[in-house]
Amino acid sequence: MTSIHAFWLAGRQTTGETTLDVTSPWDGRLVGKAAVPTDAQVEEAVAAAYAVRDEFAATPAHVRAAALDHVSRRLVERTEEIAQLISAENGKPIKWARGEVGRAVSVFRFAAEEARRFNGGEAQRLDTDAGGQGRLAFTRRFPKGVVLGIAPFNFPLNLCAHKIAPAIAVGTPIILKPAPATPLSGLLIGELLAETDLPAGSWSVLPVANDKMPALVQDERLPVVSFTGSEQVGYAIMDSVPRKHCTLELGGNGAAVVLGDFSSEADLDWVAARVATFSNYQGGQSCISVQRVIADASVYDRLVPKIVKAVEGQVTGDPSDPKTDVGPLVSEDAAKRVESWVDEAVRAGAQLLTGGKRDGAAYAPTVLTDVPADTTLACEEVFGPVMTVTKADGEQAAFDAVNDSKYGLQAGVFTHDLQAAFRAHRALEVGGVVIGDAPSYRADQMPYGGVKQSGVGREGVRFAMDDYTYERVMVLTGIEL
Ligand code: SIN
Repeated sequence: MTSIHAFWLAGRQTTGETTLDVTSPWDGRLVGKAAVPTDAQVEEAVAAAYAVRDEFAATPAHVRAAALDHVSRRLVERTEEIAQLISAENGKPIKWARGEVGRAVSVFRFAAEEARRFNGGEAQRLDTDAGGQGRLAFTRRFPKGVVLGIAPFNFPLNLCAHKIAPAIAVGTPIILKPAPATPLSGLLIGELLAETDLPAGSWSVLPVANDKMPALVQDERLPVVSFTGSEQVGYAIMDSVPRKHCTLELGGNGAAVVLGDFSSEADLDWVAARVATFSNYQGGQSCISVQRVIADASVYDRLVPKIVKAVEGQVTGDPSDPKTDVGPLVSEDAAKRVESWVDEAVRAGAQLLTGGKRDGAAYAPTVLTDVPADTTLACEEVFGPVMTVTKADGEQAAFDAVNDSKYGLQAGVFTHDLQAAFRAHRALEVGGVVIGDAPSYRADQMPYGGVKQSGVGREGVRFAMDDYTYERVMVLTGIEL
């Protein structure tokens, strides 16, 4: 008998009237059943979060930090079990799932550390003008209000952690909605939070059905919406609530630029290994996976065969096997969509160098060149194990090619030239530039987010804490400065 994974309503383990089947994308087996809240239960959670907001904001920092440290420690203790759960519900190879748990451990730890030093207050003397004589401005940050966090399926644990840990760190209640395909890892965070003594109502984890979300997004008691997912859904949310504070972490079509100075055999072997790995990790289902390699004409001919060899060396198959690099996509439909985009590009004249085959939800690691600029594959986020390689005539042409996209999340630039690194940092219209590696590097404490259609706002623990709060100034009068 499959157990039912309860949801967390205002910190209480609860079941509803219906459940959601969670199946493995690899073999279709039932991984678990997630309890789904009724409308009344969702209302209860929102009302509780709203009611507790002042109390939670006033909770001492040490209490919030201790709760975050507790979750971090418990994630360490239960790493293997949680990695197995991520792998089962998401299809992510176990080695990547273990890495994801390690990252969530850090996210909660960083949040605990930040909670201890956040909001120390900043003083500003105002007597720099005659009208401000004897006055001092003192600024602290306060929560904007209850957060509605909406998490995606591709990092079912860590992207839930990125919503919930900063909320606890600043003392703002959160209603977290995990993705319907992968709710179990988010629910497990609830299990660990329930072991703490955070105030009831300060957090809920609710696998609300997608069609119920518009009403929740509109709810005025939830003034902050933090969404990670597709461009279409993200901007639809923002357009529906233009007066709310929305943070959107959306898509990308990550580019890796290889400049002409990165040209030794060892350099090109490194590029090939890195782009092969990060085009295919999690089946390419990361917003910063390598979708485009843009190589200087002087290295292109030597690089392409190395990339093909490295991509063909990726081990595909059962995600529970520790040797597997690339598992299935989240669903057969997702793999069919990727297949149709690659087929369209090939029909339009692209050269398929390897891959291009689908087996159920699995899609073979794929490399193409000469992809026409107007194909879907060239314009959109593929979110699959597919890489295109393009030749560029010099640095400026390579940077222009990166920017010739509606997305701007992260880019990688392979160069040894420090000046070129700074030129890239200035020129590239993205939220992050990684020098000497693929665009797929994310440290969970650094600012993360995009420009253009890749989103609005920044995550990364401290940056999400800023995002969930606002500065409120207090002016003191009659002060001897
Ligand atoms: C994402 O897909 O946007 C998240 C990437 C990451 O956290 O590594």
